[in-house]
Amino acid sequence: MTQEFHKEAIQHPIFELIGKTSEELGMDAYVIGGFVRDYLLDRGSPKDIDIVAIGSGIALAEKVASKLEGKPQVAVFKNFGTAMIKHQGLELEFVGARKESYQRNSRKPIVEDGTLQDDQNRRDFTINAMALSLNPTDFGTLLDPFGGRLDLGKKCIRTPLEPGITYSDDPLRMMRAIRFAAQLDFNIELESLRAITSHKDRIKIVSEERIVDELHKILLSKKPSLGFKLMHQTGLLHLILPELTALQGIEEIEGQRHKDNFWHTLEVVDNIAETTDNLWLRWAALLHDIGKAPTKRFHKKIGWTFHAHEFVGSKMVYKLFKRLRMPLNDKMKFVQKMVLMSSRPIILSEDHVTDSAVRRLVFDAGEFVDDLMTLCEADITTKNPKKQKRYKNNFQIVRQKIVEVEERDHVRNFQPPVTGEEIMETFNLKPSKEIGILKDAIKEAILEGEIPNEHGAAFAYMLEKGKKMNLTPKNDKI
Ligand code: CTP
Repeated sequence: MTQEFHKEAIQHPIFELIGKTSEELGMDAYVIGGFVRDYLLDRGSPKDIDIVAIGSGIALAEKVASKLEGKPQVAVFKNFGTAMIKHQGLELEFVGARKESYQRNSRKPIVEDGTLQDDQNRRDFTINAMALSLNPTDFGTLLDPFGGRLDLGKKCIRTPLEPGITYSDDPLRMMRAIRFAAQLDFNIELESLRAITSHKDRIKIVSEERIVDELHKILLSKKPSLGFKLMHQTGLLHLILPELTALQGIEEIEGQRHKDNFWHTLEVVDNIAETTDNLWLRWAALLHDIGKAPTKRFHKKIGWTFHAHEFVGSKMVYKLFKRLRMPLNDKMKFVQKMVLMSSRPIILSEDHVTDSAVRRLVFDAGEFVDDLMTLCEADITTKNPKKQKRYKNNFQIVRQKIVEVEERDHVRNFQPPVTGEEIMETFNLKPSKEIGILKDAIKEAILEGEIPNEHGAAFAYMLEKGKKMNLTPKNDKI
């Protein structure tokens, strides 16, 4: 194999400093992993840099830090045998070469007794096992014992060792293989795919947080369906997101069929990935139909129904987030809201689009109405060009009307134009249910377009409505 040199990848003075310092300590040092891979793929120079030392990574980090301007702190993780320095926007992680695989969940200290080749053996994929030498004698030389360079060219994810060993060492790598395949648009070697399939159950020992991290990365890739299809094919998806696999399949009764909501969902996710990088909106696309599995019914007269699947789905979002230890915060509420409202614009656009229906949509979706429209547009997966055109046009009309209605009525972040206090003061009322009734009536009148969203009109409406309820305004209020 011809020798390759990539000095240009390691021009930053920090690399030379690390090389010289390791020489002083009598050890060799290399930059390895994602930095080398992304450089060779022309994905720019990553800010996360992994340095492997043939000796103590912690000792090397400490000595390097002592020579840097400002003497940055070294964060030492004894259990992992690693040390981290932040310098000029870079995050440098130092580790000693190991014979054994990473013991991320073990409290046993890691023995740093390996050679470079030992360490490369224990890495996840050939494309992540390439190293560039930082040693003054061969600075910039590429060390690629498993043909990672060729695999980059072939767009292939392959393990350095027999796949069963690599995935048993750290089962998260099954998700990583799929995530890299999705992110880079690579194929996973057949043997590896088989190993993932047979080792899939081992994913249960991986923490939810680490799995979710990979799910986020798959969702944020250009074509997330690539990742979800591989997860599905290997059986991982069923273990991690059974709500999704439950959507698979087409049933037919008396000649009536429904669409396969699993494959539909993947199309929706790919569609939305073309228009937004909002991770949580992509999650909403992934989960928008999960209520369809538990609500599916067949009725002789009307065929297949998924009654209230949006409501059921939004409740499932909470359980799913909780199970995967995802944040139960405003992000989850956002996803719930999108799922809950996911059919609203469609229903609206199927009919004649009225101002009041749009006003209600804006009122209910609030600041997220644009996100909701983006989701619904992505939801159009019909292969019938005529229908597709019609739906798209209708959504255009809805979007247009949202702008018009918003300019006029400002219901997006609705604040009642007449307050409860004002109602009490006007009719000399103590806190009571009448106040709620009047506030609601005003809101309804605005949403229906009977009155504009203005104080004067709302106040007059309240007086009129109050009289009908046999309430008497104070004299000075008439
Ligand atoms: N690694 C591994 N097994 C893992 C995780 C990481 O062998 N389960 C090795 C790989 O060599 C990897 C390096 O550690 O390249 C750094 O890991 P990490 O920072 O998690 O990933 P990157 O490859 O840098 O990629 P990304 O930043 O996209 O996650």
